[in-house]
Amino acid sequence: MAEWRLAGTLDRCPPGNLLETEVDGHRLVLANVDGEVYALLDRCSHQEFPLSDGELDGTSLECIYHGATFDVCSGRATGLPAIAPVKTYEVEVRDQEIYVQIDG
Ligand code: FES
Repeated sequence: MAEWRLAGTLDRCPPGNLLETEVDGHRLVLANVDGEVYALLDRCSHQEFPLSDGELDGTSLECIYHGATFDVCSGRATGLPAIAPVKTYEVEVRDQEIYVQIDG
C-alpha cells in the first residue's frame, strides 16, 4: 500500500533546484519547478548514476554524466543516450514540508 512519507522541506529545495534525499531506502531526487515539486528515482536510466548531480532547466533535468535529459513531470527520457523513463512519485506539499508517496 502506498504511503505518504516526508522527503524534504521547501527551504532545502527552492524553485529551480534539485534536492537529493532518501525515503525508506529509496533514493530520490526532488525538483522544484517554479514552486511545483516533482519527485523521481535518483538513478539515471542510462547508466544508473545519480540524477541529483545533474542540472534542472525548467522542467528538464540533464544528467551530468552523459547528457541525457528527462522531463521531471513525467519521468520521460527526452534526450539521448537515455531511452527508458525514470520512475516518478506523487508529491504533496503541506506547509513547508514535501511528502512523496512510496509504494510498499
Ligand atoms: S548515466 Fe545519465 S546519461 Fe549516462
